[in-house]
Amino acid sequence: MVHLATELIHGDDKDNRVTDVAPPINVATTFRYDNDDLVAWNDRENLDFMEKQPIYSRLAHPNSTRLESLFSKILLGHAIIYSSGCSAFFAAMIHYNPKRVFMGQSYHGCRAIANILTRNFDVKQHTLDDIEQFAQKGDVVHLETPVNPYGTSYDIQSFADRAHAKGAFLIIDSTFAPPPLQDVWEFGCDMIMHSATKYFGGHSDLLSGVLVVKDEEISKKLRDDRIYLGTNVANLESFMLLRSLRTFEMRVLKQSDNATKIVKFLNENRTKYDKVLNKLYHSSLQTEDFVKRQLKGGYGPVFALTLKSVDQCKKFPPQLKYFQHATSLGGVESLVEWRALTDPYIDQTLIRVSVGCENVDDLIKDLAGALQYLQDSA
Ligand SMILES: Cc1ncc(COP(=O)(O)O)c(C=O)c1O
Repeated sequence: MVHLATELIHGDDKDNRVTDVAPPINVATTFRYDNDDLVAWNDRENLDFMEKQPIYSRLAHPNSTRLESLFSKILLGHAIIYSSGCSAFFAAMIHYNPKRVFMGQSYHGCRAIANILTRNFDVKQHTLDDIEQFAQKGDVVHLETPVNPYGTSYDIQSFADRAHAKGAFLIIDSTFAPPPLQDVWEFGCDMIMHSATKYFGGHSDLLSGVLVVKDEEISKKLRDDRIYLGTNVANLESFMLLRSLRTFEMRVLKQSDNATKIVKFLNENRTKYDKVLNKLYHSSLQTEDFVKRQLKGGYGPVFALTLKSVDQCKKFPPQLKYFQHATSLGGVESLVEWRALTDPYIDQTLIRVSVGCENVDDLIKDLAGALQYLQDSA
């Protein structure tokens, strides 16, 4: 078995077209045909030829092909690359075309896509508690774990069993714990999605998403659909994502380690900040057995806390030096977000924390200073 760190650097070597060690940035939308090898579209058995002979960048381009080779290796299946995590989720919905979708707490953008499907196509939405009562063959259970914005985990195996007992498909959004933190396939899901904007991108400068399936035929259908949905990853982004992936494992392991240490510090010092800190959420604080089974490689680098008031939530971010106040997560730079600014469904006193690659002692000092300031002024 080739290890993750090696695949991240060599998993796309087979797609080398030139002698450059760093893959070139390709900006072309259209590519010259090979006049010595002209095959009509209707005479093609499949679209595999595009890997060697790209036609038009909405179909495939050299670095989208490289990304799919690499993601297929590291995500242990057949990967399809998209322009964002949201377009990946939309593609999954178009593929399964369910009559009912079962979702719990999850990224509000995925919920908003489900709302569009409900508005236009009368897709019914249910909670995860409704699976036994309402799920039917061909429906979709969409589970995010660890979940945004809390960073807490759900038992994937139990949801796989419950969905499959009804003939429904299980999609896992594993954005918050990509490998090596979590290997979702072990627990029996049908499709995995990631917002590659987060840890795979890792520098807060690109949007992308990825779906992975075990069945090659399904991956081909997804790719065919993507051509006409027009949601392939963009040329420049694909180059940046490739470059980011080379260092992905180092970054995410450091982020995971930092986050776990910070949560431990906050948990052990709760009483010091009793006028500020209300609740603390993270998988490392969960005691159920499945959490350690799932997060074998480390806990996700996002956690959440609630403060005692909305006013404190507004005063907390400006006190921080290293945690910038911004949405999103997964980048090398640590962020906090008063989540009410972007998520209409969330607890109004929740602060989401995305831990970066800075020195953990500096990060702890930064958070402790801001909490102490609010404690003293309460
Ligand atoms: C868990 C999760 N899934 C999906 C998405 C959507 O990803 P993107 O912003 O790349 O469309 C996000 C974005 O924050 C997310 O946190």
